[in-house]
Amino acid sequence: MSEKIIFLNGEYMPVEQATVSVLDRGFLFGDGIYEVIPVFGLKPLRVDEHLQRLQNSLSRISLNNPYDNDAWKLIFDHLLEINPGDDRAIYMQITRGAHPVRDLKIQEEYKPTVFMMVLQVGAVDLAVLEKGIETVTIDDFRWHACDIKSISLVANVMLREQATQSGVVDAVLVRDGFVTEGTASNFFMVKNDVLITPPVSRHLLPGITRDLVLELAKENGIECEIRQIAESELDSADEIWLTSSTREIAPVIRLNGKDVADAKAGLMWKKVMAIYQQYKQVLRQA
Ligand code: PDD
Repeated sequence: MSEKIIFLNGEYMPVEQATVSVLDRGFLFGDGIYEVIPVFGLKPLRVDEHLQRLQNSLSRISLNNPYDNDAWKLIFDHLLEINPGDDRAIYMQITRGAHPVRDLKIQEEYKPTVFMMVLQVGAVDLAVLEKGIETVTIDDFRWHACDIKSISLVANVMLREQATQSGVVDAVLVRDGFVTEGTASNFFMVKNDVLITPPVSRHLLPGITRDLVLELAKENGIECEIRQIAESELDSADEIWLTSSTREIAPVIRLNGKDVADAKAGLMWKKVMAIYQQYKQVLRQA
């Protein structure tokens, strides 16, 4: 039996013993919300911001938050304690629970299913990260509610598969000629020493890593610009990055089979990545 202990509806149990009804609306409709919170040492990164985004997503789909922030944090602490490790992530998912009749209508009375587990993501290997990744641009055909961290991820799965079939690790998504984000990450471009990222909207997830990168960059005197990025600008980008809780800041060195600048992780990436690692280190020791 694995040592992995998960949280399900108020109880802690080995993952093998955890079961959810086949009538759960998460299973039938993808009717639920999730969050991924990176943890360094025993410290979840930007936990209040993640919980705020959780609340925003829940509100958007009219699902009540089953706990207040203090209660969530107590569960995180306990789960981390019983699933030891260093660099990990908390995965949490709330669905609208099971109902005897399969009906899209939201029932007045429902019992949400609350599931949480610790992902052993391991420390990011800087040498591997620095090698960079290859991506392609793909038309972003997702819905107009990408700001919701919904568990309905089939469109993202399809887009990722399209990237995989093209022989690359991820896609840069483009909607109506403008870049939105990656399949599970946010998008940054560097041009003439300015760090540029698209504004938050219903077409992308407001990434916690995105906000942290912007904040740290500004604090360190890097000029940042939040504006739409046209697909036509990508060919002349000095650097392109994808950011997320688990990937941190990944430099994109090739796009659509062409080199991004000199196909190496750029100077701005090195600078911001060093600041980001320092931030993590301080958090670990806090
Ligand atoms: N994904 N955009 C999308 C579509 C995402 O799924 C994610 C995160 C992000 C970056 O958000 P953050 O910086 O808060 O992790 C942007 C998580 C990591 C996942 O699905 O595993």
